[in-house]
Amino acid sequence: MRECLDEARGLLFLARLRGSGEPVGYLYCRLVASGPTFDLGPIRGDVDSLVVSDRARGAGIGTDLLAACSTELQRRGCSYWSIGVVEANSDAARLYERVGFRPWIREMLGRLDQPH
Ligand SMILES: CC(C)(COP(=O)(O)OP(=O)(O)OC[C@H]1O[C@@H](n2cnc3c(N)ncnc32)[C@H](O)[C@@H]1OP(=O)(O)O)[C@@H](O)C(=O)NCCC(=O)NCCS
Repeated sequence: MRECLDEARGLLFLARLRGSGEPVGYLYCRLVASGPTFDLGPIRGDVDSLVVSDRARGAGIGTDLLAACSTELQRRGCSYWSIGVVEANSDAARLYERVGFRPWIREMLGRLDQPH
């Protein structure tokens, strides 16, 4: 992450509590070249990590971090952003659909050391 920030290939958003300034969450978004396979514009955002501390969840902080990232990406001329989510994390997937993400690429994981 640090390397990407040093080279301006990523955006970091930090959420702090009003008053105390205590950090309660962050979002890190990579700026990636889209490549020739999909027509997504030259650069798209890829939300690499989004975490809100346990006791601050459910209060809109994750939504606000995503909104701030979306605004900055659009300011930079990006038309698309992406995010990965583990299939089992249906709560997070619901949040992402609510802010406009839709299923795109399906990643699959397999064990190499067991018969299938
Ligand atoms: C996913 C996460 C970032 C959401 O942040 P948040 O500040 O709680 O989100 P908001 O308050 O803006 O929105 C709440 C929504 O988040 C989702 N959510 C996911 N996990 C949640 C949790 N543990 N507690 C509360 N909401 C959660 C729900 O969809 C909820 O909306 P709902 O009303 O449909 O149930 C946060 O729960 C988190 O850090 N989870 C652990 C790490 C993680 O799973 N990150 C995503 C990896 S892909």
